[in-house]
Amino acid sequence: IKKITTETLRKMKFDKEKITMLTAYDFTTAKMVDAGGTDAILVGDSAANVMAGFETTLPITLDQMIYHTQCVVRGVNRALVVADLPFGTYQSNSEKALDSAVRMMKEGGAHAVKIEGGAEIEDSIRKIVNAGIPVMGHLGLTPQSIYQFGTYKVRAKEDAEAEKLIKDAKLLEELGCFALVLEKIPADLAKKVTESISIPTIGIGAGADCDGQVLVYHDMVGMNKDFTPKFLRRYLDLYTEITGAVAQYVKDVKEVNFPNDKESY
Ligand code: KIV
Ligand code: NA
Repeated sequence: IKKITTETLRKMKFDKEKITMLTAYDFTTAKMVDAGGTDAILVGDSAANVMAGFETTLPITLDQMIYHTQCVVRGVNRALVVADLPFGTYQSNSEKALDSAVRMMKEGGAHAVKIEGGAEIEDSIRKIVNAGIPVMGHLGLTPQSIYQFGTYKVRAKEDAEAEKLIKDAKLLEELGCFALVLEKIPADLAKKVTESISIPTIGIGAGADCDGQVLVYHDMVGMNKDFTPKFLRRYLDLYTEITGAVAQYVKDVKEVNFPNDKESY
């Protein structure tokens, strides 16, 4: 098996081959997501939502993200494993940012880290990249800033925010980021950003012209019944499948249909 590297992704943009990324937070899921052929697996801090049940991504800790990353890495043969650095572990100063990134690489076993923001975290990005750690950027709707935004609505609809986003994307390229996530921005803007930088853009709710796409695994397999943003395509209805299976199991046990003779010693 040929392992995907940051260089592979760069080449895919050059060759106009779309890049695919999905999240995973545990060993068993990571094995399936890797076997399905995704190029990159994101150990997203969306684990705070889908694994831990928090309202926002803010509460998850670096230790918890390292644990999720360790579990994922053990299940992956091919994909590039990118791990989110959580809120508060890279914004304050570049030394702290480097320490966090080093722990994620060394203890977590990640192949790259992802951090949210542009010019505000320039020093942190520079420091991490200079240490030889691949950095994926993340612009647009950056969920760690939710209390500043106030809503999870589409970002950069206004000219000022769109111009800042284009500037930030160019800065991230200059700083040596190997790719960048564009979350929930107008498709036209994502297209413009994608055409104006040489590193790949990976979109979520950012239209078809990004160099790749990412979705949260639990959303794309339909495990989250109540999360229905316009950008989401559901490939399965696992919520219904799984609750149905559980209900059937409950019924079988109650009616002494399980286990049967063949299932007994
Ligand atoms: O944490 C996450 O799942 C993410 C993706 C939505 C890009 O950052
Ligand atoms: Na994230």
